[in-house]
Amino acid sequence: EKGGYDYFMLKEIAEQPKAVADTLLGRIDASGSLTLDELRIPHGVLREAQKVVIVACGTAFHAGLIAKYAIEHWTRIPCEVELASEFRYRDPILDQRTLVIAISQSGETMDTLMALRHAREQGAKVLAICNTNGSTIPRESDAVLYTHAGPEVAVASTKAFLTQLVACYLVALYLGQVRGTKWGDEIRAVIRDLSQIAGEVDRVLETMEPVRELARSLSRKNTVLFLGRHVGYPVALEGALKLKELAYMHAEGFAAGELKHGPIALIENDLPVVIVVPSPRSRSVLHDKIVSNIQEIRARGARTIVIAEEGDEAVEPYADHLIRIPATPALLQPLVATVPLQVFACELATARGNEVDQPRNLAKSVTVE
Ligand code: M6R
Repeated sequence: EKGGYDYFMLKEIAEQPKAVADTLLGRIDASGSLTLDELRIPHGVLREAQKVVIVACGTAFHAGLIAKYAIEHWTRIPCEVELASEFRYRDPILDQRTLVIAISQSGETMDTLMALRHAREQGAKVLAICNTNGSTIPRESDAVLYTHAGPEVAVASTKAFLTQLVACYLVALYLGQVRGTKWGDEIRAVIRDLSQIAGEVDRVLETMEPVRELARSLSRKNTVLFLGRHVGYPVALEGALKLKELAYMHAEGFAAGELKHGPIALIENDLPVVIVVPSPRSRSVLHDKIVSNIQEIRARGARTIVIAEEGDEAVEPYADHLIRIPATPALLQPLVATVPLQVFACELATARGNEVDQPRNLAKSVTVE
């Protein structure tokens, strides 16, 4: 049932191109527009929404953080993202014009379920993004957009995450399409890029051997830090979470701009730091800033592991290890940048003799608050 792989996690990492393609299937029409009538939310509700609030836990929360960048950019609707476990306890401001998006692979996460119940009690409309047909979260929501990742068995979420991202992009683009924004041309271009993205994920998977080698060489380290900016910041958080749960290592993700406000004090000789570099084309200001961050930490002894777009030469002098990813539109980069981090964590866990599919102390779905 592991399809020839040693672990479900490896199989699920490899299934990502298909999972991404399946989640897009039937949702883009021949003219290149999105058809999400399956949502069955009246267009009026989507047009009148004044705020989007995303609630989720763990990896799904990271997908939500990335969704915020996409939703605010393409729709100009203010968007908040909140850990489901914190949400209802702070008396959040919600009404009929709030669209709440609950993201959950299992559809059974109690924290997320309680958050969405609270939102509906306040009159908000709830859209679930979920991978499990007929599970509790979609049943209790006003609408659902299913991810089509297929069953995810490994506790560490991989393919479900990529499909959550796809679903979030679809919702963001659809909101933009329905409401009509000045980004119409960009939205059409991104839909086109999105429809090609599974092939790019596949290309990343084909180049992972050096990442595995690198992971093995770091198996005796105690700490790994992850840095990113813009959508690379949640990717850094996701890379750190994967490493914690699989390798039982101290791993932290930071927004690279925050380094100087504290975390840079952690940098010491030979400390591995993974840096997710934004595209030099569409995010040139951020790109230059992150290149200076890489220089700063390297000058203090960090071992820099740089994830950068093909053709980005500016990072080369400062990268102790360079992991190349294909160029994508800026907002879509997490779909390709996350993959090496999954492979990295999985290989480190294996090298440390850990149980990859069933990490200690964790359950696949967390049905208690
Ligand atoms: O089933 P859900 O998406 O609601 O689960 C949320 C988290 O428990 C889950 O993403 C968890 O963080 C994973 N183990 C991360 O790999």
